[in-house]
Amino acid sequence: MVMHFEYAPGATPIDLDEALGLIPAHITTQADLNTWEEMNIVEGADWMKRQKMIPALDEGLVRELHSRMFNKTWLWAGTFRKSAKSIGIDWPQIAVALKNLLDNTAYQVEHQAMSNDEIAVRFHHQLVLIHAFPNGNGRHARLMADALIMNLGGDRFSWGANMSLATPGVTRQNYLSALRAADNGHLESLMQFARQ
Ligand SMILES: Nc1ncnc2c1ncn2[C@@H]1O[C@H](COP(=O)(O)OP(=O)(O)OP(=O)(O)O)[C@@H](O)[C@H]1O
Ligand SMILES: [Mg+2]
Repeated sequence: MVMHFEYAPGATPIDLDEALGLIPAHITTQADLNTWEEMNIVEGADWMKRQKMIPALDEGLVRELHSRMFNKTWLWAGTFRKSAKSIGIDWPQIAVALKNLLDNTAYQVEHQAMSNDEIAVRFHHQLVLIHAFPNGNGRHARLMADALIMNLGGDRFSWGANMSLATPGVTRQNYLSALRAADNGHLESLMQFARQ
């Protein structure tokens, strides 16, 4: 049986073939799925925390974190999207776009082109814009930015200091409007939101 998904504003709908990749067979409601995903994501976040140093900003790390966040939930955890979404680049270009982003970010870190916060928040925004995975891109890209800033000696981001970012509500609206401002080249709101 294929479950019925309910989406928060700005969330990426799941295709039918992606929905068939749901691992826990007992899950039929969005609430159960959210709880299950949450447990899985905590394991991914713990794994990331245990990596004291990011060995290299590369595709392997990006995919491994997504895999560890969703490997008990989705068969396609850690694998790139092969479907079009309302946001995100054309899927055949994901690997190249991601490599460019990772290389640019490493360059910015090396040359201290801007503050570490700005480097990590830009990285977050670009990563969700690429939308490398069928789902989980927002949560994954926030954890990736957290890992980057902590590796640079900064504190973890607060992302609006709200636990319910993944569900509808004012914090999510603020997050989405800050992302849209960043789409237009204005990063200040997203930087503020990340430290709120
Ligand atoms: N205009 C936009 N510009 C950049 N990124 C966006 C924009 N709109 C949405 N996003 C990002 O896409 C994410 C939704 O993608 P997806 O559903 O793959 O991730 P998710 O982790 O399941 O998200 P969520 O749990 O936040 O719904 C949002 O959380 C946000 O990070
Ligand atoms: Mg989603």
